[in-house]
Amino acid sequence: MTATVSGSKNEPLVLGFETSCDETGVGVVRGHTLLADAVASSVDEHARFGGVVPEVASRAHLEAMVPTVRRALDEAGVKLSDIDAIAVTAGPGLAGALLVGVAAAKSYALVLDKPIYGVNHLAAHICVDQLEHGPLPEGCVALLVSGGHSSLLFVPDVTQDIVPLGTTIDDAAGEAFDKVARVLGLGFPGGPLIDKAAREGDAAAIGFPRGLTGPRDAPLDFSFSGLKTSVARWIEKRERAGEHVPVADVAASFQEAVVDVLTRKAIRACQDTGADTLLIGGGVAANSRLRVLAEERCSAAGIRVRVPRPKLCTDNGAMVAALGSELVARGRTPSALDFPADSSQPVVEVVAR
Ligand code: KG4
Ligand code: ZN
Repeated sequence: MTATVSGSKNEPLVLGFETSCDETGVGVVRGHTLLADAVASSVDEHARFGGVVPEVASRAHLEAMVPTVRRALDEAGVKLSDIDAIAVTAGPGLAGALLVGVAAAKSYALVLDKPIYGVNHLAAHICVDQLEHGPLPEGCVALLVSGGHSSLLFVPDVTQDIVPLGTTIDDAAGEAFDKVARVLGLGFPGGPLIDKAAREGDAAAIGFPRGLTGPRDAPLDFSFSGLKTSVARWIEKRERAGEHVPVADVAASFQEAVVDVLTRKAIRACQDTGADTLLIGGGVAANSRLRVLAEERCSAAGIRVRVPRPKLCTDNGAMVAALGSELVARGRTPSALDFPADSSQPVVEVVAR
């Protein structure tokens, strides 16, 4: 063991694999200590299609896998033979992309003769915050917002008890960012580009609709499809009239509509469950306005907010290793070696069987 390794040597060393979408992530974690977070992204290969192409993502995972494992081990200053357990995203995600990670992780587990945990991607997004802010409190609420999911979850125990409270009935929040960015001609992925454009704009310029916020609507579900259409219609109308489209104002007003609903519903979820901590994760958690508004509104409501740093919010292998490490620490049973990659793995299934 090299001198660069931190964390107590009594804690297990876990290697985590993530390939559910377009990021090949390999992380190394010891206990709650992050030792390496190597990510190879195929995002540029998808840009000209305006969205992730599953076949292209799978091939990119295959090519990036071994070099990314090597990079992670080097970064952590450990050898493959030091690893105590393997964790891998089993689902949800793109079927072909998941299969590459699951097959690779099983091979390493078999060769090293170590236990393997096929884990839920959403649970990993929650657990990663332990690497930054310490153990999760019992019974927090998690708001997970990314290109593939928008969920509110109650989390009594991230290793075995996650209760879905609400989800999107159409588009995911990140998907709405990506689609609106496309209509505005900003590029892909759209979230960071809208975030940047919005800094120069007026968030109150245009009153875009807040989906599912009526008195009869499901209070903890989301809908972003109507908002996306409303933005597209607003731009079309301007263009038809030969008027200039104020990109920064549209970006800021759209972003405000999304984060207003996300924060309002997240606080409602905390109040309904009695949780005093809100954890925000997923790619959209990197949004600067969401972070500010969540902090402001939660502080007024007496709720503590935890958001990992942006690199840990987007997909990565460290989050999978973080959950693997917690599963080992709590003595949870590993997966059988023949567990499947499950593109629609429900969040209540934290470990694939
Ligand atoms: O978690 P993630 O890396 O992958 C999925 O599981 O989907 O999230 C990617 C999503 C994309 O839709 C991207 O546009 C969005 O997260 N995103 C953002 C920001 N950074 C990434 N959305 C809003 N603001 C950002 N700063
Ligand atoms: Zn994700």
